[in-house]
Amino acid sequence: MSARIISGIEVAGEIRQEIKRDVEALKSRYHIEPGLVTILVGNNPASISYVTAKQKTAKELGFYSIEENLREDITQEELIFMIDKYNKDDRIHGILVQMPLPKHINEREVIYAINPDKDVDGFHPVNMGRLLIGEALFYPCTPYGIQQLLIKSGIETEGAHVVVVGRSNIVGKPIAIMLCQKAKGANATVTICHTATKDLASHTKRADILIVALGSPKAITADMVKEGATVIDVGVNRIGVTPDGKAKLCGDVDFEAVKEKVYAITPVPGGVGPMTITMLMLNTLKAAKRTVEMQGG
Ligand code: GUN
Repeated sequence: MSARIISGIEVAGEIRQEIKRDVEALKSRYHIEPGLVTILVGNNPASISYVTAKQKTAKELGFYSIEENLREDITQEELIFMIDKYNKDDRIHGILVQMPLPKHINEREVIYAINPDKDVDGFHPVNMGRLLIGEALFYPCTPYGIQQLLIKSGIETEGAHVVVVGRSNIVGKPIAIMLCQKAKGANATVTICHTATKDLASHTKRADILIVALGSPKAITADMVKEGATVIDVGVNRIGVTPDGKAKLCGDVDFEAVKEKVYAITPVPGGVGPMTITMLMLNTLKAAKRTVEMQGG
């Protein structure tokens, strides 16, 4: 039987409605609009499309949003000067610097420059550290989206064996940490696989929940998954152009073959992607609410 398709578009739509209601309440009660600045450096086509989608969603949800598009050759000092300006700007609650940055800029130093209270990506070491000890302020958006997809789709994580393929700071490591915490929507047994893992299939075949973020098109084939598993595909690979000129995308999982074997699977596009953007909005809303709380509101 063909798998249940977990629609990120649907789940993200539900969460966006909740955000919209909260934004209206915040505006009418405290005259505050959640404020988000996106900072894009250069002309990477994937980054441009992500930032465009983030800006569009922010506007649809009634946020105050600023879009900074900077030249490829901006210096690190100029970029950090701009971040500092937004660190001090009370109308801005969230600062997002789209990654990757050009090679002459040190990404870690840029992330360090963001005020952790405005780090809605959850990439700052303070926020990563808080995540590790189970006291997160902001969950990184993609892992947060994955966890919400599992919860809202009724996929039980408690006691489940989760196998994560990929150990990036943005997805693999944080989702592994989040799902092994002693908490609701977590409490799983987690295995992390990476480029030095021997016999990858022997691990992926043991997963009740398989989370794949390795950046290689259709690398996970049907023989690598357990019957009845849930598969979350984080990969976004550009494999050509559609007749109407849009990028043709596929995930890291061979969707057509794997969906015949598993219980549930996320598609690409339309799975994790819409959730990531929605979680960025939720983090920005949270940052705005915190400023009210800190002022005793
Ligand atoms: N590049 C790829 N994913 C992300 C993300 O979640 N946040 C930022 N800032 N850059 C990215």
